[in-house]
Amino acid sequence: MSRRFAPTERSLSGTVRVPGDKSISHRVVLFAAMAEGTSRLRGILDSADVRSTIAAVRALGVDVRFEGKSATGLELAVTGWGARGPQCPREAIDCGNSGTTCRLLLGVLAGWPVTVTLDGDASLRRRPMRRVTEPLQSMGARVTTTDGRLPVTITGGSLRGVAFESPVASAQVKTAVLLAGIRATGDTVVTEPALSRDHTELLLPAFGVSISCGGGQATCAVTGPAHMTATDLAVPADPSSAAFLIGAALIVPGSEIVLPEVALNPTRLGFMRVLQRLGADVDAEVGRAIGAESVGTITASFRRGLTATTVLAKEAPSLIDEVPVLAVVACTAQGTTRFEGIGELRVKESDRLAEIAVGLGRLGVVVRTGDDWLEVDGPARLRGGTLDSKGDHRLAMAWAVASLIAAGPVTVEGWDAVDVSYPRFAEDLASLAQSTGR
Ligand code: S3P
Repeated sequence: MSRRFAPTERSLSGTVRVPGDKSISHRVVLFAAMAEGTSRLRGILDSADVRSTIAAVRALGVDVRFEGKSATGLELAVTGWGARGPQCPREAIDCGNSGTTCRLLLGVLAGWPVTVTLDGDASLRRRPMRRVTEPLQSMGARVTTTDGRLPVTITGGSLRGVAFESPVASAQVKTAVLLAGIRATGDTVVTEPALSRDHTELLLPAFGVSISCGGGQATCAVTGPAHMTATDLAVPADPSSAAFLIGAALIVPGSEIVLPEVALNPTRLGFMRVLQRLGADVDAEVGRAIGAESVGTITASFRRGLTATTVLAKEAPSLIDEVPVLAVVACTAQGTTRFEGIGELRVKESDRLAEIAVGLGRLGVVVRTGDDWLEVDGPARLRGGTLDSKGDHRLAMAWAVASLIAAGPVTVEGWDAVDVSYPRFAEDLASLAQSTGR
């Protein structure tokens, strides 16, 4: 399905509560599935990726009941397998487009005597899985991959704790190993080259698992075997989804938007720090926490005269999902904005590094890329055209944002990719353009 976006004639203004955080939604559903008892979960993101996780835990014998749907998301009651463990599913589990579903599930299953095959769509079948399967094998799980990719078959069982030094800063890898560690005997310690998002560490204590982190390093540890118990939790709004509306407000003259209840976890807010460095008017006001997650209201207003910046490799884990929209904002800044150490973008839902260059280039922007870096020259005059999402939700939304300031309409092919994280993105963007004239 393609969708055509006309340049906006209005500034953006108003308030939008963006949907629930995708990373947290996956985790609370999975952790509730592992726990003893019934967890009540609110504000769960209703999107294709999270539905893949829900379908997966159901196939493993978990009772997931839809109790309602509010403005903030799905309300679920999840009765986990607890000490009983998961059942063998009848067929392969389809993880759809979702890397988080697939990689976290491998860690969940590694400690149980079940044999499960995980598969996914064409994009997920291209993504590397050894980063997760190798540490799980070193703990005692038996795994076969298809040349390091999906389909993957795992046979779990008795595990021993491991001290794992991950070569990549990846929350999916870290989480998979820690979840296996909950079933393993002894300590499981994960060290990453830089701290990736820490939602797992913040959530596990609510499910009765103690975890120790820090010590000045990106290290955390669990001691197994540990017992997980049900809990009730709410999910705040997703900062990565918010980033697209923020980017839109920052490039359309006269705009001023308010986004309440956004997760303000510092491991996710690298994009806010970069936007402030560009000179953008963005601010986060901390409100009442939801569980262990800091939450608050983000405001973003258009300001003239943004200037280019360099995004350093050490910042990459805290903004890895926001590079597409940051690149669009960089088109309006004076000078060359450079992103360093973003090679991980090559193994996301598409080769995002290459595709950002292709898409922005088609709109007339001067972009250069290398193995793990990207440069965007600004300010650029964007022209209209037809761009491909490449089945990647974050590219689709970035192209819709770019369309707002293009000289002509932008058609986004494969628009339905947005179902993965933000199904009503186009409607929310349009609602912000309703209220005032430019
Ligand atoms: C995620 C971790 C990140 C991120 C992805 C969600 C998670 O991936 O890009 O969108 O929920 O753990 P990596 O762990 O591969 O860095």
